[in-house]
Amino acid sequence: MARKPSARYVCQSCGSSTPKWAGKCEACGEWNTLTEETAEPTARKTGNLRSARLTTVRLDGEAKPPPRINTSIAEFNRVLGGGLVPASVVLVGGDPGIGKSTLMLQATCALAQSGHNVLYVSGEEAVDQIRIRAQRLGLDRDKKTLDSLDLAASINVGEIVGSLEHERKHTVVVIDSIQTMWLENIESAPGSVAQVRACAFELIRLAKTLGFALILIGHVTKEGALAGPRVLEHMVDAVMYFEGDRGHQFRILRAAKNRFGATDEIGVFAMTDTGLREVPNPSALFLAERRGNIAGSAIFAGLEGTRPVLLEIQALLSPKAGDGAPRRAVVGWDTARLNMLLAVLDARCGLKLAGMDVHLNIAGGMRVNEPAADMAVAAALISAATGTPTSPTAAYFGEVGLSGEVRQVSQTDLRLKETVKLGFDSAILPRRVAAGSTRSKPPAGISLHEIGHLTDLVE
Ligand code: TYD
Ligand code: MG
Repeated sequence: MARKPSARYVCQSCGSSTPKWAGKCEACGEWNTLTEETAEPTARKTGNLRSARLTTVRLDGEAKPPPRINTSIAEFNRVLGGGLVPASVVLVGGDPGIGKSTLMLQATCALAQSGHNVLYVSGEEAVDQIRIRAQRLGLDRDKKTLDSLDLAASINVGEIVGSLEHERKHTVVVIDSIQTMWLENIESAPGSVAQVRACAFELIRLAKTLGFALILIGHVTKEGALAGPRVLEHMVDAVMYFEGDRGHQFRILRAAKNRFGATDEIGVFAMTDTGLREVPNPSALFLAERRGNIAGSAIFAGLEGTRPVLLEIQALLSPKAGDGAPRRAVVGWDTARLNMLLAVLDARCGLKLAGMDVHLNIAGGMRVNEPAADMAVAAALISAATGTPTSPTAAYFGEVGLSGEVRQVSQTDLRLKETVKLGFDSAILPRRVAAGSTRSKPPAGISLHEIGHLTDLVE
């Protein structure tokens, strides 16, 4: 008797499936992300595979580092761990409009210019649109680039796989984006978990057999209408996220997973009207955004999930307008936390701000939830109150308690590494607890100022 394929519900955010629908995904906690998908038939016979044999090797054999394909974009190479690895798969995720296609088109052209046969497949834009972008970026003038770069607009994975298998000449293939790709034999729509997984699986399998480096572009979605890059994270060798605020110039490429390199490397770019420009010295960009040496600003060495990020915290104080309570306007931070810090600064450090309106802003449109930002916020407030700018090359982090004591926060080493990476030369951080301290040697090029109480910061 033929079994009817059973329905199952798949979370479009994390990819886990359940037999019953629910409003909230049990696995990742996201709401309204479960959609119905027909289960793929799994009845595959394994009996006749028993005669197959594994090839095993000794652990002490020769081990060569993987060869690298230089992308000619130093910041991209850095995040990759030294360049693209042949037969590997990189997933580049990010919000729509952040610049993924721009970055990949620039990388593709640079690779073609150095003689690699590259295929760029867009499922989102027509060939004309890509040409217009390339013209705007000035990428369409070099003969070698034009000869080595193949452009196609397609969403049909069958077609893509067929051509790649037939031509067998490409060393790098870019798919923009995996969520637009479609395989004929899968029933669900493009962008569903089943399609995204099956398309990625076909392309990855081919990359491994033919040996080309595969770059998959994936949109990060909050609505859950499209399967997010998270459903692919375990299938690929490296995952990088392209981040930034569309209202701002800077963009950061960050590795979230990398089988061939470190995951705490970042690549910094600036979006200009002629495309993405590499920023080898990112502190220059941050300082340029800081508009010089003005009071009321401090740099916070923070963490986003497991990833370090440096942010500028801005504070503005003005005499209270009118009779009512003073204004506490906060963008990107917690108002209750700000009120607590103001109370601590008042009671423990004698900084009288009760009669002032306080505006606090995390520049760049980011939102900070970490208590570790307390010290940077305090530094920005003290700086605004005293009219003295903080050192432009110093970063702050540490949690502040109600008695004004500065407390330890997690991942000091990671924060310091990022601070150095971004070109800062000093850090103001919590005093080390003598016993049980696990902090390793600080990275070279940074001086540490350990603070035990907020009054030290005021001085
Ligand atoms: P895009 O690469 O299309 O984003 P994604 O592929 O991540 O969706 O980038 C789109 C944005 O970048 C668009 O809003 C315009 C801007 N942009 C520039 O500022 N300068 C440029 O040279 C280009 C090509 C795009
Ligand atoms: Mg795009």
